[in-house]
Amino acid sequence: MPTLQEFLDRVTKAEADATERFGAVASVDEHTEAVNRFLGRSASERAHLKVWLAELPGPDKPQAGRAYNAAFTKLDAVAAESLARISSALVTAPAVKDPTMPARERWHGSLHPVTQAIDEIIEIFREIGFTIALGPEVEHEWYNFGALNFPPDHPAMDLHDTLYVDRPGLLMRTHTSPVQMRTLQRYAPPVRVLAPGNVYRRDFFDATHAPMFTQLEGLAIDEGVSFADLKATLMHFVKRFYGPGVPVRFGPSYFPFTEPSAQMDVQVDLGDGRGKRWMEIMGCGLVHPAVLENAGIDSNKYSGWAFGMGPARIAMSRHIVPDIRLFYDSDVRFLEQFR
Ligand code: PHE
Repeated sequence: MPTLQEFLDRVTKAEADATERFGAVASVDEHTEAVNRFLGRSASERAHLKVWLAELPGPDKPQAGRAYNAAFTKLDAVAAESLARISSALVTAPAVKDPTMPARERWHGSLHPVTQAIDEIIEIFREIGFTIALGPEVEHEWYNFGALNFPPDHPAMDLHDTLYVDRPGLLMRTHTSPVQMRTLQRYAPPVRVLAPGNVYRRDFFDATHAPMFTQLEGLAIDEGVSFADLKATLMHFVKRFYGPGVPVRFGPSYFPFTEPSAQMDVQVDLGDGRGKRWMEIMGCGLVHPAVLENAGIDSNKYSGWAFGMGPARIAMSRHIVPDIRLFYDSDVRFLEQFR
């Protein structure tokens, strides 16, 4: 059985220890620990002393009770002050500057690298007088093939090669070249337009092909336009886009709507271990007189050139991306490199 004096001494000691401890706590965890040790409902100093108090002889209880109440009322206030001190320290604490911490960045979206390439190409051509023309992605056979001088039995028109729509004469356009005719029907020469847009083919999805991809058509019609104009304009574009010194070559090609036809390749290292090699980035040529006549334009007076480039391939060669599928996977870890 404790005596009154022992009880009072223990109260005094608890008050002193607790006051000292609460004065020193430096974190919310330490504060909670001190509350549990001195003031908690069970297994604390307060809880022990409450049991002792009940066991004291009746005559001692008033004095013991007053000492107990005074001490713990005071300690409750001390604890509240200590918590307030820690909280305000948390709020006003200067930010910890640790240069080895990974930077925190707010996530934000950005333009797709292929869109970026298209915008940049359009900007380069805008400077030399080109405007934008758009056409539908569900196109009529005539615009997609017939107007462009495809013979009726051309294999490109084969059901197995083209995605037809379940309506007579309609298909998913296989290239942006139908916009040539749509433009020439609306505007008299001189014409200088770029036509960006999606095109569809029954192609396998492999490292350099996709069944849906973006093309960028260019068309220039005027009096006295020659192949030299085409070549000079495209060389200007390549220099502006890739910077000087990127090897470029033209090779012969065939399209029903251009004559002569060519393809333009740039030499790039796609970083896939195969070293530098030529990659075709566009088809081009002088507009076939039959196309001009189909548009009601006098092919003796006017001539012109056209090209159709693949902005995804151009983005591949520029950013050293070895597989075109990466552009269509929508993997943010890949895409956010091009912000
Ligand atoms: N339309 C052609 C293709 O898709 C590209 C092209 C456009 C070629 C214009 C010549 C002139 O392959």
